[in-house]
Amino acid sequence: MNASNPSKDQNFCPVGQFTFVLHGASGDLAKRKIIPALAHLAVSGYFTGDAQVVFAQREAVDVDVFLAEVDRFLKAAGDENGRNALPALRPFASTCQLNLGAPGDKAALNAALKGGPEPVVHYAALPSARFKNLIDCLDEIRDPARLRLVLEKPLGRNGAESAEIEKWVSGKLDESQVYRIDHYLGKQAVQNLMALRLGNRIFEPLLTREHVAHIQITVAEDLGVEERAGFYESAGAIRDMIQSHILQMLAIVTMEPPVSLEADSLRDEKLKVLRSLKVPAVVGTPEIVAGQYGEGYVRGQPVPAYKAEKGVSPDSTTETYVSFRTEVQTWRWAGVPILLRTGKRMPKRFAEIVIQFRDVPKPLFEPVGGMWTGNRLVIHLQPQDKLELFLLAKTPGERERLKPVSLDLDFFNTWRIPVRDAYERLITDILRGRLNLFLRRDEVVAQWKFVDQIQNDMKRHGYTPVPYTSGTYGPSAATAMALRAGATWSEDAQ
Ligand code: BG6
Repeated sequence: MNASNPSKDQNFCPVGQFTFVLHGASGDLAKRKIIPALAHLAVSGYFTGDAQVVFAQREAVDVDVFLAEVDRFLKAAGDENGRNALPALRPFASTCQLNLGAPGDKAALNAALKGGPEPVVHYAALPSARFKNLIDCLDEIRDPARLRLVLEKPLGRNGAESAEIEKWVSGKLDESQVYRIDHYLGKQAVQNLMALRLGNRIFEPLLTREHVAHIQITVAEDLGVEERAGFYESAGAIRDMIQSHILQMLAIVTMEPPVSLEADSLRDEKLKVLRSLKVPAVVGTPEIVAGQYGEGYVRGQPVPAYKAEKGVSPDSTTETYVSFRTEVQTWRWAGVPILLRTGKRMPKRFAEIVIQFRDVPKPLFEPVGGMWTGNRLVIHLQPQDKLELFLLAKTPGERERLKPVSLDLDFFNTWRIPVRDAYERLITDILRGRLNLFLRRDEVVAQWKFVDQIQNDMKRHGYTPVPYTSGTYGPSAATAMALRAGATWSEDAQ
């Protein structure tokens, strides 16, 4: 959580009865995101009564040894809210040695779960190549009140692999039991975005091709590949970030209002967007720029080139940056440039959605600096959860001059209650059986179809990423690409 007083959070009611099995409990994702989320929920009293959390991993580890290790890494990460994690988790925790895919795996899992409370949630924090081994261990129980499966993205490396995984899943479970997680949908800011669009009258009528000049979505990270070269080398920025996080945000910004907030209503509308995306041109007038970080300085510290990172091949052609122009080809949005961008080793960590409105039809005032900027709505996802609306206001004095001023809404300062981390929010939804912040199978299919087309085109034209210096906003070709769409990337405009 972002604040230190969980007891003030009255929007979370404890959940009493479930078994939560974390598969891949010793992995990087489990350590960085899922275990801290479980620890925070335990500390804030979210687990009560007959709850069980089983940490499953290949090696046999005593539960106290495992929790002591959890305690150490929470402390090392400076995690204030996880300070009392050990005593809070202990009553619910156990460990299970499970070598998925090896003889006897199913028996070992069943022995660990025997007689435990239901529903049983299997959280696959595993590389997707190992999903089959886990699914093979599950009994066919088509009842969401008894069994739920959580799958981390990316599901496979392309549409074909993803379809294979879905075949195994649907052989054992119903769609209502499957939680395809994209943690960006658990971020408070993304939910605010839905509220902004669907709970207010004043924005929705303006979100059309008549009024919007362009939309841009950026997820910039200052970190490099860290310890994840094994995964990242075969993923790259397009599969890792565009394929789900950024496409999901785009779908939420541009979808038609759903008939309700029920899972299928929302997913139906997102799906229409995902199916109507224009594939960017790789050659001709290029609409895509991919890059790979070279050495440089981030926050004043020297950092190595991607190719020099541990576990990365010295002649790697994996992209660590990508930006492209697409379009949502619907009546509402056709012709509006949509610019998407993500990269590692950028100068700072930030994520935002910018909606740039068109200028007024006939300017009557004089712009300061001779340049019109128009109205701009910026939804900041991180590091702060806030909203900025840039309006044009008259400057004091005799001249009829306008200058952009911003209306600023910082959600933390507004509510003054802790905001749960995305994983905490999504885990509580899984435990309550709420599917609306999770992806349906056909959304994943549409996302892969779009991404596969981009990757196939890049391969066909022999496109390889261009180098960029760490600590910059990526290759300069991206600025030119944005200018061709009549846009400037938002950090240039700040
Ligand atoms: C993950 C990606 O899904 O999202 C990582 O695999 C990335 O590469 C991370 O660093 C970013 O998440 P957040 O919440 O820190 O923006």
